[in-house]
Amino acid sequence: MQLKGKKIVLGITGSIAAYKAAILVRLLVKAGAEVQVVMTPSAKEFITPLTLSALSGRPVLCDFFCSGNGVWNSHVELGLWADAMIVAPATASTIGKMAHGIADNLLVTTYLSMKAPVFVAPAMDLDMYSHATTQSNLSILTNNGNYILEPASGELASHLSGKGRMQEPEYILSRLQEYFAGDKALAGRKILITAGPTYEKIDPVRFIGNYSSGKMGFAIANECAMQGAEVTLVAGPVALDTPHPSIKRVDVESAQQMYDASTKIFPQCDAAILCAAVADYSPVAAADKKIKRTADGMTLELKSNPDIAAELGRQKTEKQLLAGFALETNNGEFHAKEKLDKKNLDFIVLNSLEDEGAGFAVDTNKITIIDKEKTSEYPLKSKKDVARDIVSYLKSLFLFLLLFMAVPQTNAQELNATVSLNSSKVQGTNTEVFTVLGDALTEFINNRKWTNYAYEEYERIACNFTFVVDAYSDDGSFTCSLMVQASRPIFGSTYSSTIFKYEDKAINFSYQPYDRLDFNEDNLDNNLTAVIAFYAYIIIGMDMDTMGELGGSEFLNKALNIANNAQMMSDAGWRAGSNENNRYTVIDDYMNGAMEPLRQLMYKYHRLGLDTMFKNADEGRKIITECIAMLKTAYDNRPLAYITKLFTEYKKEELVNVYSNEGGSEEKNSVVEVLYEISPSQSDAWDMIKKSAL
Ligand code: PMT
Repeated sequence: MQLKGKKIVLGITGSIAAYKAAILVRLLVKAGAEVQVVMTPSAKEFITPLTLSALSGRPVLCDFFCSGNGVWNSHVELGLWADAMIVAPATASTIGKMAHGIADNLLVTTYLSMKAPVFVAPAMDLDMYSHATTQSNLSILTNNGNYILEPASGELASHLSGKGRMQEPEYILSRLQEYFAGDKALAGRKILITAGPTYEKIDPVRFIGNYSSGKMGFAIANECAMQGAEVTLVAGPVALDTPHPSIKRVDVESAQQMYDASTKIFPQCDAAILCAAVADYSPVAAADKKIKRTADGMTLELKSNPDIAAELGRQKTEKQLLAGFALETNNGEFHAKEKLDKKNLDFIVLNSLEDEGAGFAVDTNKITIIDKEKTSEYPLKSKKDVARDIVSYLKSLFLFLLLFMAVPQTNAQELNATVSLNSSKVQGTNTEVFTVLGDALTEFINNRKWTNYAYEEYERIACNFTFVVDAYSDDGSFTCSLMVQASRPIFGSTYSSTIFKYEDKAINFSYQPYDRLDFNEDNLDNNLTAVIAFYAYIIIGMDMDTMGELGGSEFLNKALNIANNAQMMSDAGWRAGSNENNRYTVIDDYMNGAMEPLRQLMYKYHRLGLDTMFKNADEGRKIITECIAMLKTAYDNRPLAYITKLFTEYKKEELVNVYSNEGGSEEKNSVVEVLYEISPSQSDAWDMIKKSAL
């Protein structure tokens, strides 16, 4: 879905792996992308342009000019047209040309004109790949902001086995999808990573060290940076280049230096992952001069080094996360749990030298993640993929912190509602009852604790419950309409975005002044409080959906339970199977699997789209455009569902603002087409966007 409508330039170079490019084209096209293939002259020796043009549905570009009519193939236009470029397979020669700007073919000129991100999937023999020249060219490409899809190990065309195999097309597709999914879930987060060994000086020529290469820690730093975090990488002495251009690197040598750097940086961070293999001991004093050999041997007196993890664990606030590693040789789980506890970590990553392919220097690792509640084992994977698993774990704990734990328990209730009760339609009766009911409702909604979670005052959800009394009789029976609206502030701005708005056309209930408003989930004997509880849970659920994908299920399920239990009530708004939209159909839709894209987009739209808009309008709007595509999927899944229409209605002014000034006409037209289809009755608003596209 993330690739639907995306324009991809696929650069193919002369490698035996070029056959995989055909599969990649097919996968990209299947995912909805438009693919323009550009080949180097030697790539044609490995795969024919005919195959690729048949698969991509576009003529393949190989030369600066079309033979026959002499038309110029504009690399400049391609650079502007594309949403991403992939070079797969990328040979050592093309990587070298890209690194040094040797623009002697259309692929390299297109690369040099590219405005979009570029993904490079190297493919070559193991010695060529590990050669210092290739490695230094790849470093240049990384430092220039390109994404290198590191090759895998396996059998190569030379029949040798080693690192150099181009990543599989499915893998390349998934990295691209992740990129477009806007998986910048760590945007705004500051993360400290320690990596590599420490060297403890004995004399000017000798040190105490260990075999850590830094690969694991660097892969974690890279993953965090790819996901938008601001990363500071405190690195011991390693022979690795900084893996991502946005990473801030601090090079240290000894445990004491790593301690000094880490304790200084950690207070400004949201999390730290301590992957370094820190020496536990160092010589009491390093000799100034080389220690001479003696016949009697020598004794080295050692002192304990500071424990960085334990110190950060001591400093950690409840808004910070701290993860460590445990490198064990025996009784791994036992020792790891001990470290988790002693160092006050939120989780620990155990890798054991008992497992083949795990630990120091190798490109793979096999880990077990342990936190206070559970132990999760992972299979042997590349350190890159292990890094993704660790970062996913960290993200899940961030979400948990955000939702439930980061703040001390306070008495603040979840809802911060303004309640109004308009009785103008039924004037002439004793109006005291309306004032008393308005006050009772305000107290009931705002003072009741709807969840077991701790909310700070500033985290309360702003909402309005606006009742209009349509009929009232002195025996206390009411018929009201109710408009419920809730909104959430957008980070870094004063703007609040509506997350739910619905008009309930008719609620019937009885109320006598000074009746106690109460609600019991198991015994719905009061229709008024049942309706209020129903909307309270929807608001809380929708709010949690904006915090984490499908995060609000617990509370939306509570609303669904109320609706199911209320079937026996006389109020028609609860009636399942009604042709009209009513409160039952609203919750029934939200909890229907077919509507999941709509619930998923709540997170993406608010936390990635709108939050980003205030920093980068163009990027934020593009994310919102992807959300509209998700909305369309939900609509196609269940065209008669009311909630897709509801979403467009309560978001219409916002959408007009998002698109009226910004965005290209093609983008606006595609958005407007979806909006007209879902909600033709709001055509005035959509016309405004359409007009701005002209
Ligand atoms: O760098 P690679 O070659 O890719 O290898 C990766 C690795 C094997 C080094 C890595 O996966 C790993 O296990 N790192 C931690 C190694 C280690 O020192 O483990 P430990 O069990 O001794 O330490 C436990 C934790 O305390 C670690 O998070 C460590 O960073 C931290 N520590 C230890 C001692 C100390 N003085 N200060 C610390 O912060």
